[in-house]
Amino acid sequence: MDEHKRLVIGISGASGVIYGVRLLEMLRALPVETHLVMTKAAEVALAHETQLKVAEVHALARRCHAVTDMAAPLASGSFQCLGMIVAPCSIRSMSEIATGATSTLLTRAADVALKERRRLVLMVRETPLHLGHLRTMAALAEMGAIIAPPVPAFYARPHSLEDMIDHTLGRVLDLFGLAAPNLRRWGEKGEPGDGDKLRALRRNKPG
Ligand SMILES: Cc1cc2nc3c(=O)[nH]c(=O)nc-3n(C[C@H](O)[C@H](O)[C@H](O)COP(=O)(O)O)c2cc1C
Repeated sequence: MDEHKRLVIGISGASGVIYGVRLLEMLRALPVETHLVMTKAAEVALAHETQLKVAEVHALARRCHAVTDMAAPLASGSFQCLGMIVAPCSIRSMSEIATGATSTLLTRAADVALKERRRLVLMVRETPLHLGHLRTMAALAEMGAIIAPPVPAFYARPHSLEDMIDHTLGRVLDLFGLAAPNLRRWGEKGEPGDGDKLRALRRNKPG
């Protein structure tokens, strides 16, 4: 595998661990070598939000690295890769990345991406956001990170939660020049989605 086609995937303990899982699934269809690091809180969120076992998520990645393993290849800038996506990114991990005081392999790998001027995409998930969160995001954007919260696009006319997740991830993969199959782009025609169904329901509502 071309070392420049390696991608580091971080899954932290924010709501929406399914974004990380689905991202790994999508990347299996692309010529990319995935390196996964999952935090302990991500494992907790996985158990709360899905029926998946940690081992099943690990099996989706080409290589898995223990979150405590600060001697893993990803902890060094000499590990050549396209960059890193944190999907989803918790406020805690985001804050560590912004300060450089990194306590996990996930945040260390993200810090490495920043120092090596590689692409770093953080799918930060929290709401509402206080000024400290917003200032941290601004600082990270100034350092070169891309803040890409998982916010669904309704123009893609999603039929399901899976459609929404895949569209959001397809736009994240665009940032690495990786084309997700079946990504519905603005202006492309498609079947009416759930938005249209909702409007139809409202029209039929009595009274
Ligand atoms: C089910 C669940 C959902 C959570 N959702 C969020 C969230 O959306 N955003 C967030 O910043 N933290 C969330 N948390 C809290 C984080 O898991 C917690 O701050 C943890 O310390 C993050 O650690 P990590 O960054 O090492 O994964 C959630 C926790 C649980 C158990």
